[in-house]
Amino acid sequence: MSTRSSALTVDAAGLTFQNPVLLAAGTAAYGRELDGVVALDSLGGIVTKAVSPLPRAGAPAPRVAEFDGGMINAVGLANPGVEEVLRSELPWLAEHVRRARVLVNVVGDTVEDYATVVSRLDDGAGLHGFELNVSCPNVRAGGMEFGADPRTLEAVVRGARAATRRPLFVKLSPTLADIAQAARIAVDAGADAISVVNTIPGLVIDVDARRAALGFGRGGVSGAGLRPVGVLATYKVRQAVRVPIVGVGGIERGEDALQYIMAGASLVAVGTAALRDPRAPERIVSELRGWCERHAVSSIAQLVGSVEMTR
Ligand SMILES: Cc1cc2nc3c(=O)[nH]c(=O)nc-3n(C[C@H](O)[C@H](O)[C@H](O)COP(=O)(O)O)c2cc1C
Repeated sequence: MSTRSSALTVDAAGLTFQNPVLLAAGTAAYGRELDGVVALDSLGGIVTKAVSPLPRAGAPAPRVAEFDGGMINAVGLANPGVEEVLRSELPWLAEHVRRARVLVNVVGDTVEDYATVVSRLDDGAGLHGFELNVSCPNVRAGGMEFGADPRTLEAVVRGARAATRRPLFVKLSPTLADIAQAARIAVDAGADAISVVNTIPGLVIDVDARRAALGFGRGGVSGAGLRPVGVLATYKVRQAVRVPIVGVGGIERGEDALQYIMAGASLVAVGTAALRDPRAPERIVSELRGWCERHAVSSIAQLVGSVEMTR
């Protein structure tokens, strides 16, 4: 590794990332779909699409729609289920991804589902850690999201913690009433890192058709409009916990990533921008490198949490 790139090296949650830029969950599938399109090994890491115990068909089409401020999606966490991921996706990752770190994104319908997926994948090759998506509905609690109830959040993280010694990231929703408190609960229950933020609920209407733009109706808003929301969430979580943070939401350029880093993130993840332009994450890495060179920053870690909040 050159000295130039070492300014971007990040140690977080027991893993070394060659740079702080990850592909966000749901935008890289399980890596294979991007083979030949994105140089995955030039990134800090990839977060896979969600994995649930059983296959999920997902939501009806259309699953994504654009609007001025970003994108709305209702994919419904479609995925082939943990057995298929173990059988055909992880071996591909093990063989083809050498330098990028791989986090498997985990979802469930019940508290137990999370530990089931984590323990099933734990011995697999090709992954370095897990990211628990606690923004999805708990079917046994009337569809309330796992992260929104302190006891449920604690149970999900404790269950997953007991199932693995690998790094555990917990991804929180920007709609939580108290995201700092949720982060504290997750860390106390064994999380090694917090990812913020997931999408925010929204509705886009096609007025000529007088229908929702998405097949499912409502969806999750991502992209540029989510950026200030995610940066503030990062700042709040940074005030509450000392574990590393992955900043996610609306990152399109190196400077957007720097906002998250200055707010307190050690790592960043790129979703919507990578769907629009698969080369965006690589470009963001080189923009970060250029910024550090221009500002004589020898290690990007020096910038984490460095924002002055008042002028
Ligand atoms: C099409 C699509 C699929 C997604 N799937 C997942 C998922 O499986 N698990 C998850 O935790 N987040 C998922 N997300 C949320 C993203 O990982 C990210 O948190 C969010 O989109 C905000 O980042 P962005 O503005 O860079 O897209 C998905 C987002 C999109 C747009």
